[in-house]
Amino acid sequence: MSKRYRVVLVGCGSITKAWLDACQKQFSGRVELVGFVDINADAARARAAEFAPQAWTGTSLETALATLKPDVVFNCTIPDAHLATTTAALKSGAHVLTEKPIASNLSDALSLRATAATTGLMLAVIQNYRCVRGARTVRQALAAGVIGKLHTVNADFFLAPRFGGFRDQMKHVLLLDMAIHTFDASRFFSGASPRSVYCHEFNPAGSWYAHGASAQAIFEMSDGIVVNYRGSWCAQGLQTNWNSSWRFIGERGTLLWDGAEGIRVERVVGAWNGKDFHQPVETVDILLLPDEPAKTGHAGMIGEFLDALDAGTTPSTVVTDNIHSFAMVEHAILSAESGQRVSIKL
Ligand SMILES: NC(=O)c1ccc[n+]([C@@H]2O[C@H](COP(=O)([O-])OP(=O)(O)OC[C@H]3O[C@@H](n4cnc5c(N)ncnc54)[C@H](O)[C@@H]3O)[C@@H](O)[C@H]2O)c1
Repeated sequence: MSKRYRVVLVGCGSITKAWLDACQKQFSGRVELVGFVDINADAARARAAEFAPQAWTGTSLETALATLKPDVVFNCTIPDAHLATTTAALKSGAHVLTEKPIASNLSDALSLRATAATTGLMLAVIQNYRCVRGARTVRQALAAGVIGKLHTVNADFFLAPRFGGFRDQMKHVLLLDMAIHTFDASRFFSGASPRSVYCHEFNPAGSWYAHGASAQAIFEMSDGIVVNYRGSWCAQGLQTNWNSSWRFIGERGTLLWDGAEGIRVERVVGAWNGKDFHQPVETVDILLLPDEPAKTGHAGMIGEFLDALDAGTTPSTVVTDNIHSFAMVEHAILSAESGQRVSIKL
C-alpha cells in the first residue's frame, strides 16, 4: 500500500530539477514536498516557488527537521556537505535518499553506513545511470548469457563540459564526481565486486579544471572479470555518451553499447572445428526494453526508494551495497596518489 511521504529537500541547486520534475510528474501522490533548505535562501525559495509554493523554506536543515519532522530527506547538497546533512537527517528520524557520491571520502561513507544501521533508517544513493533503457537492456542480455561468461568490461567516457561552480576547484573531480556512475554501472552490469585497482589520474594540457580531469583505471573484479575505465572531462570533439561507450567481452562473444540505444552483439557459432583461424560469428539482435518514464533516470531511483519504504524491502543502491561502488572511487584515488596497485577491502 503506497504511503504519501513528507519530504524535505536539502540543497536546491541544478540537479534538483531532475528530482522535482520526477516528483511532480510521477510521484505527486506519494511525495509531499514540505520543506526546501539551502544555505542560499534564494535558491530554496526559487525551487519552492516552482514546485511547492506552500512549502517551508529556509537556510537551516536542523530547523526544518525539528519543525517539519519529515519522513524522508532528499539530499542534493554538494559532496562535501553530504556527511553532515545526511547524518543530521538520519539522527532526526528521517530516511534519506542522497545524490551521489554518498560522501566525499570512504571514511565519511562508512560513518554514514554506521549511522543508518544504528538508526534503523534507510539510506540509499541516486545512481540514475542504472535507470536508462539501454542499461537495463544490456544488463538483462548479459545476465541471460548472450555472450557467455563475461570476463572483460571496457568503458570509455570522453566529454568536455564547462560546469563552473564547485567542480572547477574540486580535487579528483572526474573520479569523485563522475566516475562513480561508471564504476557503479560496471558492478550493475557484471554483478562482480571490486578486488584491486591501478589508476593513473592526470590533468591534461589545456584543462579548465584545477585537478584530475582525466583518469584511466584497471579494476580486477571477482569471478576473474577485469574492468578498464578510460575517462576525461576535458576531451574535445567526438564525445561519448554520458553513460560511456561500453565493450563487454565474454567467452562466446562481444556486446557493444554506445550508451544510448545502440546495442550490437556478435557471438561465435557452435564449437571451434580445430581448423579455422577465426571462428565464424553471428549477429544477435537485442530488443530494447520498453521506454518507461517511471523507471528512467532519477524517477527510476526515487520510485525504487519509495517502493522499498512501502514494502519494507531494500533498494538496489542502499548504502550497504553502494559503498562497494564508492570504494572503487576511493581506491582509484589512493592508487593514483601512490602510483601503486591497491587492494580494495571494506
Ligand atoms: N545523479 C546525477 O546525474 C547528478 C548530476 C549532477 C550532480 N549530481 C550531484 O548532485 C549534487 C549537487 O550537484 P549540483 O550540480 O546540483 O550542484 P549545485 O552547486 O548546482 O547545487 C548545490 C546546492 O547545494 C547548496 N548547499 C551546499 N552546501 C549546503 C549545505 N550544507 N546545506 C544546504 N545546502 C547546501 C548550494 O548552495 C547549492 O544551491 C552533487 O553531489 C553532485 O555530484 C548528480
